[in-house]
Amino acid sequence: MFSIILSLIFPIYCATQIDIFIESQCPDTVRLFKRMKTLLDYEQINEYVQFNFIPFGKGNEKLVLNKGYEFNCQHGNKECYGNLIDSCVLEQLDQIEQLRYLTCIHQEKQNNEELINLSLKKCVQNQECVYERTLKCVQSKFGNYLQHKAAKITLAQNLVEIPWININGQHIPEFDKKFKQNPLKTICEQIDCEKIKVTF
Ligand SMILES: *[C@@H]1O[C@H](CO)[C@@H](O)[C@H](O)[C@H]1NC(C)=O
Repeated sequence: MFSIILSLIFPIYCATQIDIFIESQCPDTVRLFKRMKTLLDYEQINEYVQFNFIPFGKGNEKLVLNKGYEFNCQHGNKECYGNLIDSCVLEQLDQIEQLRYLTCIHQEKQNNEELINLSLKKCVQNQECVYERTLKCVQSKFGNYLQHKAAKITLAQNLVEIPWININGQHIPEFDKKFKQNPLKTICEQIDCEKIKVTF
């Protein structure tokens, strides 16, 4: 009874939290977002699931005096740039827009900085301000701070692969594996999808 009252007062704590650690040049990240596209057909899911996307991956960072943080990324500098773009965009969007953006950009070519810039433009095309702000963000201290934040959270995970998926703050290998295979179905094992009228 008490927990029912609590959940009425604090509905946000009832949301299932899913943390997803990603990397801009990683083929498995591309595959995951291809599969997560189906979630866009059920926007109501976003009321029950809180996604937290962390774009850093298997890298490291060091603090350089008077310069801020410098990053090393698994797939080189272009990946660091793509991660930074993701960090800057995610900061500006609500969850549904984040999902729309990520499923878009991770299907686009990201082989070099120029292509990443073009893909960014395409994936935020209805949001001129987001594009402009992102270009400023990637050159700013704030962008550097966002990437540092993503690095810190990622490095605390001891993760062995990317994507790496946590549920309610915990890494459960079985959940990680199932989510990657079928995100929608796996979410529906956590929340009552009948209210969302999900059809498989
Ligand atoms: C991509 O955009 C950034 C931010 O405006 C800019 O500094 C950089 O020169 C662009 N890269 C290329 C290759 O066009």
